[in-house]
Amino acid sequence: MEEFVTLTYNGQEIKLPVVIGTEGEKAIDISGLRQDTGFITLDPGYANTGSCLSAITYMDGEKGILRYRGIPVEQLAENATFKETAYLLINGKLPNRDQLTRFSVMLNDNSLVHEDLKAFYQNFPRASHPMGILSSMVNALRSFYPELGTTEEEINSTMTRLLAKVRTMAAMSYKISRGHRVVYPRPDMTYCENFLNMMFDTPVKPYEINRAAVNALRVFWILHADHEQNCSTSAVRVVGSARVNLYAAISSGIAALWGPLHGGANQAVIEMLTAIQANGGDYKKAIERAKDKNDPFRLMGFGHRVYKTYDPRAKIMKKMCDELLDSLQIDDPMLDLAKELEEAACNDAYFIDHNLYPNIDFYSGIVLRAVGIPTNMFTVMFAIGRLPGWIAQWKESMDDPKWKICRPRQVYTGNLQYDFIPIHARI
Ligand code: CMC
Repeated sequence: MEEFVTLTYNGQEIKLPVVIGTEGEKAIDISGLRQDTGFITLDPGYANTGSCLSAITYMDGEKGILRYRGIPVEQLAENATFKETAYLLINGKLPNRDQLTRFSVMLNDNSLVHEDLKAFYQNFPRASHPMGILSSMVNALRSFYPELGTTEEEINSTMTRLLAKVRTMAAMSYKISRGHRVVYPRPDMTYCENFLNMMFDTPVKPYEINRAAVNALRVFWILHADHEQNCSTSAVRVVGSARVNLYAAISSGIAALWGPLHGGANQAVIEMLTAIQANGGDYKKAIERAKDKNDPFRLMGFGHRVYKTYDPRAKIMKKMCDELLDSLQIDDPMLDLAKELEEAACNDAYFIDHNLYPNIDFYSGIVLRAVGIPTNMFTVMFAIGRLPGWIAQWKESMDDPKWKICRPRQVYTGNLQYDFIPIHARI
């Protein structure tokens, strides 16, 4: 039976339909509100606004649940490859053997990038941040691969091309930034192995596959693969809604992810921990600063718009971090500092009252450091992981007959009309 919410204003009653998701989530459908009443809704930061119906990712921030296409992220992190996870997100179900083989072949066939792209990299100033470079380069792909296609098969091939090339481009940017020879992808390696090989293989020191590092990367990417309507994914959907090409939409997602409140937090956590170490390890001072409303400092890697309990991804990341450091026999004092800081913050009344727990970024930087990834590449690692999610969300929006150009409204608070003042009369 259809449910309604009744809104009463000045004696007038308006019935608004209730939309119920498969997990029982409830929303009030206000799509006819302005037309019927002249009202709009106001929700800065969209914390109470559902922008779409989506069948991709389910999260419950109160219970700490995250599922891709219905499958708990814990199970995927335990059993799946990143490639299978990408396929699952984009196509809605896990691939069978034939589908996976076809997907692997397509990824391999598309993994090279146009040689002229190298010239772009070489001309960026040395100090450029890799996220700025990646965002520009992904946008530039449209010029190198103009054939976007309109049939399902052609669109699939554009999506696969992007998945295959971004990984190569990320490793390439690292090599070029170091002045090293670019290493090309190899058909005999898995998605994760290939990335590490492209990053770390050199003519004088061939990269030896390290199982623990490959596994860490697999889990890291799976945990980042989608997170429903977060800032960068919303950027992809909003920009995509203007019907730009997929590359431009993904490029906007990369730009949004760069911010320290979003994906850039993984780099910011390491920078914060490094600064605490440099100041003699006084993490209690950092906690006090984070609580001080006159200080803009925040504890990086803490808090989340949706999770009001421990981020389920952070739990997996923390456990993996311990195992990885153990297996690589790395003794990283930063991990001890992170644990002390976490314990102190989680027992502090301010953090308890504000439901602030470690998020995925709190331990991910330590994992990436152990794998050998330089700090300024951390957010790029997040972007490679998030790519299947962005693509899946873009595809879902494009396939949705009700998806319109995204164009929110506002409540105007500026001047009332007044007449133009000639320059000689202005004070
Ligand atoms: N340290 C100290 N106080 C905090 C923090 C923090 N990390 N995060 C939130 N608060 C406080 C904030 O000051 C506010 O306090 P009050 O209500 O007393 O004014 C309250 O908690 C609510 O904060 P908010 O900014 O309104 O919450 P939000 O939902 O808009 O922001 C957030 C979420 C993730 C941007 C924020 O928690 C934050 O800035 N965290 C640090 C950056 C970070 O780790 N980002 C990574 C997020 S996970 C990766 C991803 O998926 O993007």
